Amino acid sequence: MENKIKLHDKHFVPYISNEEIMKAIDKVAEKVNKDFEGSSEVPLVLCVLNGAIPFTSEVLLRFKFNCELMSVKLSSYQGTKSTGTVLTALGLTTDVKGRSIIVCEDIVDTGNTIVALKEMLLDKGAKDVKICTMLLKPDVYDKDVVLDYVGMEIPNAFIVGFGLDYDELGRNYKDIYVIE
Ligand code: IMP
Ligand code: MG
Repeated sequence: MENKIKLHDKHFVPYISNEEIMKAIDKVAEKVNKDFEGSSEVPLVLCVLNGAIPFTSEVLLRFKFNCELMSVKLSSYQGTKSTGTVLTALGLTTDVKGRSIIVCEDIVDTGNTIVALKEMLLDKGAKDVKICTMLLKPDVYDKDVVLDYVGMEIPNAFIVGFGLDYDELGRNYKDIYVIE
């Protein structure tokens, strides 16, 4: 792991190793498999771009049931803060009517993104929407939407790496770093 990284004007220090991330993903995948293995349904795995790309690719390879993969792009973050408004930059490309969906997110913070996305999917007729997130900031999350699969809980700190960015930088690091 790098000792310290600099992205734009800020420094970040090591926080969660890739090994720990992989262990958390193993556990999450096990839970998802318990719910979907042997089911006759073919769920739609929905990756929330861009942050959830590394997480989705890792967790997807552990799924032992037939599934489809699709992506949407939403954004609510500017710099190191949530703006509270969720914008759709790239919408759904498949009809979700009657489908079971497994939403894959990098992190749930305020929950604004997940709440808006779940509402949108149910509005479009999705039968069931499960939320699968690599990380959760429980001290910030104040919504009622059930988070079905959570990899790891972290305190309220700004982090980067493994898909997570600070103004688009930092996504490529295999470990997670916290702001200094
Ligand atoms: P929420 O809508 O407040 O739950 O925020 C979710 C989105 O904000 C995530 O998909 C991330 O893209 C981004 N986000 C939240 N916390 C962090 C962080 O600590 N670092 C980088 N991005 C974050
Ligand atoms: Mg994101």
